[in-house]
Amino acid sequence: MLPLPHMHMHDTYKKFMEKTILVTGGAGYIGSHTVLELLQHNYRVVVIDKSCRYQINNPRAVYFQCDIAHSQALKAICARYPIDAVIHCAAYIQVGESITNPAGYYDNNVVKTAQFLETMRTLSIARMVFSSSAAVYGYPQTLPITEQHPCAPVNPYGQTKRIVEQMLHDYHGAYGLEYIALRYFNAAGGYPEYQLGERHQPETHLIPLVLQAALENRPCTIFGSNYPTPDGTCVRDYVHVRDIARAHRLALEYFDQPTGLKAEIFNLGTARGFSVLEIIQAVEALLQKKLSLHYAPARTGDPAYLIADATHAARRLGWQPMHSDIMTIVSSALQILVTQYQHNFDIVYQLQR
Ligand code: UFG
Repeated sequence: MLPLPHMHMHDTYKKFMEKTILVTGGAGYIGSHTVLELLQHNYRVVVIDKSCRYQINNPRAVYFQCDIAHSQALKAICARYPIDAVIHCAAYIQVGESITNPAGYYDNNVVKTAQFLETMRTLSIARMVFSSSAAVYGYPQTLPITEQHPCAPVNPYGQTKRIVEQMLHDYHGAYGLEYIALRYFNAAGGYPEYQLGERHQPETHLIPLVLQAALENRPCTIFGSNYPTPDGTCVRDYVHVRDIARAHRLALEYFDQPTGLKAEIFNLGTARGFSVLEIIQAVEALLQKKLSLHYAPARTGDPAYLIADATHAARRLGWQPMHSDIMTIVSSALQILVTQYQHNFDIVYQLQR
């Protein structure tokens, strides 16, 4: 038999290499950027999400509105689309809400993840990238925070993330599940070219709230001004969501490295902190406008500093933040918000006509 021409060999090989990734929460803020990153690197993507917020129209992506605990539905989906690995982003994410509604957080983030892991085991899906959080550390004892820093979460949200990390550790030991837990520091920014960005409802995060206040000529609220930081306001390590998305893809590639079964935890941050006032100043510089300030009491459970040491991700994953300088983050967040305002304006205008 004649060998296939070179080009065809190449195409066949490439097709064979295409992997299908199940992204839970793939229609959410970080999930949608991750789906886009995967599509840009020739993966096929199956999204399951309870909501349909951000869907990317692409022939290599399919979306199912489905709960991660719905084992029967998942089995049917995975029978149709054989899955190589899972990226598990689906979770409740509000720290404050987790304090008033711990039952909902433990149920959604822990119990349902346990059910989901069992479904994965039944389906012999043996790789998971997990959305974890700097919230697992609690109050830092040393800075910057390495992955070896003790974990002592100070709110139920952080507890749920830590418990799932421990479940993954135990599944690795007993069943050989490979996992990579990515501990995000403060994810921010968006991808205006694809209309992806941060639109939580309700919004609790600093950067979109400062931008909204600026656009609506309202004062920005500052929670706490007596922290032991240079200007008295909290310092955080802001990472562009596109950099976070890229880390998920690099984590998938890391699974394929021939260095044994993977069970790893990586911080994702920049090693650079910005105070609340510095974020407000960045927005002022961007908009060429002075903002008015409203000082409010400190939120409970807010550490003065959260700054990542991400050298482990740099060494093992080859991950470096590329879009995380603060003006890039803030201006991409602004563009998304302006598009949203324009959209709302158009709706109001249409309703008034
Ligand atoms: N802040 C204000 N005013 C606001 C909103 C926030 O001063 O209107 C302050 C907060 O007190 C905090 C900082 O801005 O000091 C950042 O607050 P965010 O709510 O944007 O983010 P957090 O640091 O509280 O939490 C984020 C994620 C969590 C994650 C945590 C740890 O939302 O999921 O980072 O990395 F656990």
